[in-house]
Amino acid sequence: MDSFQLNKYLMAILGTIFIVMSLNFLSGAIYFPHASEEKGFTIAVEDSGGDTGGAAAEASGPTIEPIEGLLASANTADGEKVFKKCAACHTAEQGGANKVGPHLWGVVGRPIASISDFKYSAAMTEYGQGKTWTFEELNEFIYKPKDHIPGTAMGFAGLKKTEDRANLIGWLREQADSPVPLPGSGS
Ligand code: HEC
Repeated sequence: MDSFQLNKYLMAILGTIFIVMSLNFLSGAIYFPHASEEKGFTIAVEDSGGDTGGAAAEASGPTIEPIEGLLASANTADGEKVFKKCAACHTAEQGGANKVGPHLWGVVGRPIASISDFKYSAAMTEYGQGKTWTFEELNEFIYKPKDHIPGTAMGFAGLKKTEDRANLIGWLREQADSPVPLPGSGS
């Protein structure tokens, strides 16, 4: 009789252990596919970020809207206002000093990294060899400086609005001894 009772207890304990282990196994089986589903979901989010063509695509996309066609009608008064974003680091008037960045008097048409008393980053010096700040270079640089010249010391996120860049560069063009001709204006 006693050993029969003991058997019943043992069976009960073993049964409990079995159930606990089964639950463990089952919850594992439920949990892990769930975790891998989450990973798949993350990838899907990245994909749709690229697909929607919204801000993400615009920021990393290779197509920066050209400004050449807008320069002739650029609102230089607005451009001067946009320059306030640059003025913490740059002067643009004749004889202006270098600040955090080099002075920008006559920058349109000026060889890149050519102000002798300003210490440029190695990245900009290297990039600029034999190059000039054309309208196109300026447009692309100001759109997102660190994309156009990786490693530049210019800590500025960029101007995403095409109109802002056109107005600003149109105004910068006038801050010069003899402004370079507008694109398409002939000789
Ligand atoms: C936070 C400071 C800062 C701001 C804001 C800033 N710049 Fe700069 N800029 C710099 C620095 C620093 C350099 C030198 C970069 C290097 O050596 O890599 C530079 C370089 C440049 C150059 C190259 C000049 C040359 O002599 O080759 C141009 C053009 C320029 N900036 C235009 C602008 C314009 C336009 C804006 C506003 C839309 C602007 N920057 C805003 C700091 C700034």
